[in-house]
Amino acid sequence: GPMPVVVGIETSCDETGVGVVRDGELIGEALASSMDEHARFGGVVPEVAARAHLEALVPAMELALERAGITSADVDAIAVTAGPGLATALQVGLAAAKAYSIAWGVPLYGVHHLAGHVAADALAHGALPNPCVVLIVSGGHTSLLYCRDLVNDPIEHLGDTLDDAAGEAFDKVGRVLGLPFPGGPAIDRIAKEGNPTAIAFPRGLSRPQDPPFEFSFSGLKTAVARWVEARERAGEPIPVADVAASFQDAVVDVLVDKSLAACGERQCGDLLIVGGVAANSRLREVAAERAAAAGVRLRIPALKYCTDNGPMIASVGHMLVVSGAAPDALSLGADPSAIL
Ligand code: KG4
Ligand code: ZN
Repeated sequence: GPMPVVVGIETSCDETGVGVVRDGELIGEALASSMDEHARFGGVVPEVAARAHLEALVPAMELALERAGITSADVDAIAVTAGPGLATALQVGLAAAKAYSIAWGVPLYGVHHLAGHVAADALAHGALPNPCVVLIVSGGHTSLLYCRDLVNDPIEHLGDTLDDAAGEAFDKVGRVLGLPFPGGPAIDRIAKEGNPTAIAFPRGLSRPQDPPFEFSFSGLKTAVARWVEARERAGEPIPVADVAASFQDAVVDVLVDKSLAACGERQCGDLLIVGGVAANSRLREVAAERAAAAGVRLRIPALKYCTDNGPMIASVGHMLVVSGAAPDALSLGADPSAIL
C-alpha cells in the first residue's frame, strides 16, 4: 500500500529484536536479550543464543504488533537479518520470518545486519543523507564506508579493521580489567571516573605513512594487557578507571580522526556513526565536538538503536519495499559471514 507496514526480525547475536515500521516511522518494537546467560562464559555462546531466540521470538512478535496497535493482517512485508552473525542464531530468525511470510502471505526480504545498523539512524533522524561517510563500529566490525544510497547502490569500503573490531577490543580490555562482560558498557561507565591522559596508549595506524582509513586495535589491546601485567608483577594496584579512560580515548581518537579524514577525502559533509560502540558516551562527545569544528554534520542513532535491535532491520525492509526491490525466495539461507 502507500503506507507500507514492514516488520523486521533480528537474531544475529544475543538480542531477539522485532520492529514494526509504517511508512518509515517506527510504531512498535520488542526486544529480549540472552546476555545474562552468556555473561558467566565471558562471551556469547551460539547454542545458548539460538535456544533463547527460539523461546523469545514469538512473544516478541506478538508484543511488537500489540504495541504498534496492528494485527498481522496489516503487515505488508517481513524483513529479517540473513547475516552476518552466528549461524545457529540467524537460522532461528530466518525460519520464523519464512513461517510468517507464508502464514501472512507477505513477501520476505533478507537484510544485511550492517545495513540495519546504518538504517537505524533513519528512524530517528529521517532519510539518510546521500551520499554519506559511515563509521560502523560493533562487536564484529569496524569499517569506514562511503554510502551513496544504502539499498540501491553498492557500498564502497574505504577501510576496515586489519585485526580486532573496536567492540571486540573493548570486550577484551574489559576482561583484562576484570570488568563484567560485555566490556564496552562497563568501560564506558568506569572511564567517567578516570583520567583519559593518565597513560599514553598507542593509536593504531595513525602515522602519516599508515593506510589512512584502515584500523588496528590488537596492538592497543596488547599494550593495555602488558601495562596491567607489569603493575601486577610489581605488586602495585591497578588504577582501573584511569586505564579504562586512557584506553577508551585511544580508540575514540582514532575512530573520530579517521572518520573526519574520510569526510575530507570525499569532500562529504555528512558523517554517520552506527553500531554498538556508537553507544559509547565519550565517542559521541568527541565526535560531536570535532565534527562541528570540521564543519561536518554528524548523525548518531539514539542510544538504544546503536546496539542490535529489530527496528533497524524493519527500517532497511521499508527502504527495500519503497525502492521496489525484488523480495527473496523462501530458499533464502543464512550467510554467517555476509560481506556488505
Ligand atoms: O552492534 P552490537 O550490539 O552487536 C554486534 O553486531 O556486534 O555491538 C556490540 C558491541 C560489543 O562489543 C559491546 O561491548 C559494544 O558494542 N558496546 C559498547 C558500548 N555499548 C556496547 N562499546 C563501548 N561503549 C559502549 N557504551
Ligand atoms: Zn550489530
